[in-house]
Amino acid sequence: MTRVFQTLPSPRFPDPADAPALRWGVLAPGAIAADFTDALHTHSTQRVVAAGSRSADRAAAFAAAHGVERSYGSYEQLVADPEVDVVYVASPHPQHAELALLAIAAGKNVLIEKPIAVRPHEAREIAAAAREAGVFAMEAMWTRYLPQTDILRQLLADGVFGEVRVVTADFGFAATFDPASRLFDPALGGGALLDLGVYAVSWASFALGAPAGVIASGTLAPTGVDEQVALILNSADGAQALLSTGLRSGTPSLATICGSAGRVETDSPFWAPSGLRFHEADGTLSIHWEDPYGRPGREGMVYEAAALARYVAEGLTDSPLHPLDEAISTLETIDEARRQIGALGVGAAAAG
Ligand SMILES: NC(=O)c1ccc[n+]([C@@H]2O[C@H](COP(=O)([O-])OP(=O)(O)OC[C@H]3O[C@@H](n4cnc5c(N)ncnc54)[C@H](OP(=O)(O)O)[C@@H]3O)[C@@H](O)[C@H]2O)c1
Repeated sequence: MTRVFQTLPSPRFPDPADAPALRWGVLAPGAIAADFTDALHTHSTQRVVAAGSRSADRAAAFAAAHGVERSYGSYEQLVADPEVDVVYVASPHPQHAELALLAIAAGKNVLIEKPIAVRPHEAREIAAAAREAGVFAMEAMWTRYLPQTDILRQLLADGVFGEVRVVTADFGFAATFDPASRLFDPALGGGALLDLGVYAVSWASFALGAPAGVIASGTLAPTGVDEQVALILNSADGAQALLSTGLRSGTPSLATICGSAGRVETDSPFWAPSGLRFHEADGTLSIHWEDPYGRPGREGMVYEAAALARYVAEGLTDSPLHPLDEAISTLETIDEARRQIGALGVGAAAAG
């Protein structure tokens, strides 16, 4: 049998440390903002120069803890800082749209934590506002910018899977039920799909594009948010994505792309720097690639920041690797799944 290749292609990614340095402002300095700031400062010349919180004390504490020069006691003050090039929106999901629109109205480029918004119509508003203002806007779907994802991108472009028929992904963890927490409170955008499932749906979109049909089955937490969900995403050509997400048990966080000529299985977790194994369909070839770059876990967020800095320097307003339209489409899939399992309030779907 003729081998398609003997080794996996190398990731074609420039070192994140070489990207043009931007001055970042963090809006809503919570847990992820801390890890993001540390990742940038450790692995790149990107600099978080300002933090804006609803509380001056929290902003000052964050700035002192993470080497940030300036702090503001309101979000409005941060977006008005003329020496901020790009705003990173790191609030709970329900505030993403409002804060992204605030930054865009101030003329700032914007990186918005995942999911880009709670409802699709909010995501469309962000995209429209950014296009109107001519600023760069991107969902922080950081998996798209990892070295391993570029290997997959090349394998897909080269057709080494043959006809892709099945795509799988799971992301679940065992959270302690707390009705007041961001994960379980509907007012804070709770639910597995928006927080974790977004990675799985985005994986399916990466491999198969937007689905033609969505089938969702799941259970609700006592607060009414989706607690555990299985999804089948059907493509027009018959390919299927089989996805699962949940908040009550840890799942392996593995993903696959399976086709007539071969398949790839990720190491865990598929959404962060890890590794890949490619198998030929006849089982004769198995090649493993392990991320060698030393930016583990959330330190891998530096790749999305460096990509954004390059796009801004090139004058782009949308990410070629994860365009706004795809973030909107992913949210539409999640919205439909939430509707099917009853995790959306009555009438909410109409506003989508
Ligand atoms: N990329 C990733 O790997 C990753 C990982 C975890 C989370 N995330 C995303 O990051 C976002 C934030 O998650 P997180 O875990 O960092 O949350 P968090 O620790 O709770 O921090 C969020 C911050 O948002 C601000 N905030 C604004 N309005 C708020 C409200 N109504 N209630 C509570 N806080 C509010 C708070 O800061 P101030 O009040 O000081 O302004 C708070 O510290 C989520 O959208 C999540 O999906 C991404």
